[in-house]
Amino acid sequence: MTDIKTCLLRAAQLQDVSDSARLDVELLLAHVFDKDRSYFFSWPEKALTSTQLATFEQFFARRLRGEPIAHILGEREFWSLSLQVNASTLIPRPDTELLVEIALELFPQQSIRALDLGTGTGAIALALASEKPLWHLLALDQSQAACELAESNRKMLAIDNVQVLQSNWFAALKAPALSAKRFDLIVSNPPYIDKDDHHLSEGDVSFEPLSALVADDAGLADIKHITAAAIDFINLGGYLLFEHGYNQAAAVRRILMAAGFANVKSEKDLNGNDRATLGRWPS
Ligand SMILES: C[S@@+](CC[C@H](N)C(=O)[O-])C[C@H]1O[C@@H](n2cnc3c(N)ncnc32)[C@H](O)[C@@H]1O
Repeated sequence: MTDIKTCLLRAAQLQDVSDSARLDVELLLAHVFDKDRSYFFSWPEKALTSTQLATFEQFFARRLRGEPIAHILGEREFWSLSLQVNASTLIPRPDTELLVEIALELFPQQSIRALDLGTGTGAIALALASEKPLWHLLALDQSQAACELAESNRKMLAIDNVQVLQSNWFAALKAPALSAKRFDLIVSNPPYIDKDDHHLSEGDVSFEPLSALVADDAGLADIKHITAAAIDFINLGGYLLFEHGYNQAAAVRRILMAAGFANVKSEKDLNGNDRATLGRWPS
């Protein structure tokens, strides 16, 4: 008989692959039992059924091979929304909530039209839409699989002010039906990692698609492309807002200023790193 307490002790085996071994085991068990993590403190002696044990062992073996917890469980929390995740795109990160905070502060009152470029799971667009039911959001991604995931998250969360479309950056907006569309806010967490960055082969990142992570030109190619193209799709007085790497803020500010954006500034994440940069298209 294997009980909860015994399973929790297995965290020691995960120390080499995870900085959060104990939490990982708790999350796996929570999924197996379909209970809150607090359940384990009340019922440490509770035995697992043979089916529960088999599922736990399967999950544990995958985690031991380094597979991200989010992929094993098929979900990740972002901005208090539970989002489905899979290998087609990035697992949403808490860092990206900074973009949501900034966007909400930029437009506290108005009902605006916003564009989320490279939406992945739909994290940014769905978080904004959940806070601002009167905003109109368009969420684009080049990956068909990512678009299906974002659309499935949208439906699951019953959010009806987000439209998901497959598009290579702004390409779909050139279609006649959409060509008149301009936006008050264009937000993007694009690929921004240099192809030679050693982080690409480490931890969760090594299980995520390069198409969601890597950009040419020291990671800045997509930010440059989006900035140059945004001019045709942004309203006067509108904002362009990016997430980027901790050491790219100065370069991104230069890109925005060179394109004609005003009030360009960077904002710090919770670790004190400049991780988001925005600029205003002059009116
Ligand atoms: C860093 S992930 C961000 C995902 C999501 N917005 C988030 O913050 O969790 C970048 C996303 O951009 C998408 N992407 C990459 N190149 C693209 C392109 N040319 N056009 C549109 N989307 C693209 C990827 O498929 C991926 O989903």
